[in-house]
Amino acid sequence: MKLFVLVLILLVGVVFLGGPGAQAWSKEGHIMTCRIAQALLRPGAAEAVHNLLPEYVKGDLSALCTWPDQIRHWYKYRWTSSLHFIDTPDNACTFDYSRDCHDPHGSENRCVAGAIKNFTSQLLHYQEGTSDRKCQSKPENCISWIGSSEFWEQRKFNGFEISTAEGNLKKEFSPPKEYNLTEALLFLSHFMGDIHQPLHVGFTSDEGGNTIQLRWFRHKSNLHHVWDREIILTALKEMYGKDMDLFQEDIQGNFTHGIWSDDMSSWEDCDDLLSCPNKFLPLFFLLLYYTRYAAESINLACKWGYKGITPGETLADDYFSSRFPIVAKRIAQGGVRLAMTLNTVFGEHDQEIPSPT
Ligand SMILES: *[C@@H]1O[C@H](CO)[C@@H](O)[C@H](O)[C@H]1NC(C)=O
Ligand SMILES: *[C@@H]1O[C@H](CO)[C@@H](O)[C@H](O)[C@H]1NC(C)=O
Ligand SMILES: *[C@@H]1O[C@H](CO)[C@@H](O)[C@H](O)[C@H]1NC(C)=O
Repeated sequence: MKLFVLVLILLVGVVFLGGPGAQAWSKEGHIMTCRIAQALLRPGAAEAVHNLLPEYVKGDLSALCTWPDQIRHWYKYRWTSSLHFIDTPDNACTFDYSRDCHDPHGSENRCVAGAIKNFTSQLLHYQEGTSDRKCQSKPENCISWIGSSEFWEQRKFNGFEISTAEGNLKKEFSPPKEYNLTEALLFLSHFMGDIHQPLHVGFTSDEGGNTIQLRWFRHKSNLHHVWDREIILTALKEMYGKDMDLFQEDIQGNFTHGIWSDDMSSWEDCDDLLSCPNKFLPLFFLLLYYTRYAAESINLACKWGYKGITPGETLADDYFSSRFPIVAKRIAQGGVRLAMTLNTVFGEHDQEIPSPT
């Protein structure tokens, strides 16, 4: 009988925890990220998203934002399970794409940054037909995307010739017609959330904090889980009466007219480029941003996640109140950047590039 109970407890434990590394931003974190993003879409992107979503969600992207977590253990999608995170060298507190973006078998690009790159570049094919036609009339001002080593080749960038290394990756990425752009949209939306969860870019030996056992107030948890879920769930319960809409509105208020409103344009990465007028954000740089998001995450993981943690300790009010603002901001940034990416990807590709002055 005792043995039976023990086996039962073990089984239940396995089912609930789903094995190491199985967690992601809680359902709530992903849903809020997607709702924030969808509210910021411009008409063209809103329409494309609507067209790509299956009818039964009635245009609500957030309804399927957790889909990649549901299918990651299915046989067909097993290759996606390493796309939810990045393992960086212990205590390095840096992200280096070529060093860190691979799965446990060393297969390149199989990490959350590589996934964002992959699915963003797939979505660029959404309006290929129309852009191609327009490009033919004025090829010198067109950005043309192909699956080359950086996933794009820009023939002319206002007179600068950008050379591309033709490479292995060309083979790796299947031709556009094989892409399922609905899946690409769901994956991108999910992974844009995950890359902003600081502990999704964590140390290798502790699996992003998954093996650091501790207590969250009264119950058992681990450091990864604290950042995925516990902080969000505690905030919902203690601050928003379990109403996710209120939490989301608080986040949105803080970037539209609150504490983050001045930062918003820098989140969108326009600050150091061609100043980023709304209508034209250089597509050229879009696929490089995920490196910055991952670097921010490991930096926050070191400063706020791992710092001062002793395995086995109990985390409570102090940890919650000092970390909650970071979690809220990362959800906000994930949403704003997902919107920025979708607006860019589904925007006009072939506008004339303004001369750098
Ligand atoms: C990119 O996504 C496709 C599925 O759409 C997949 O077959 C391919 O392996 C992915 N590439 C990488 C590097 O993850
Ligand atoms: C694309 O993927 C979705 C989700 O897996 C699936 O329901 C749909 O049938 C796929 N579409 C095509 C054309 O294969
Ligand atoms: C929004 O800003 C207010 C004022 O600084 C702060 O009290 C609140 O916790 C913030 N909310 C979120 C979700 O960040």
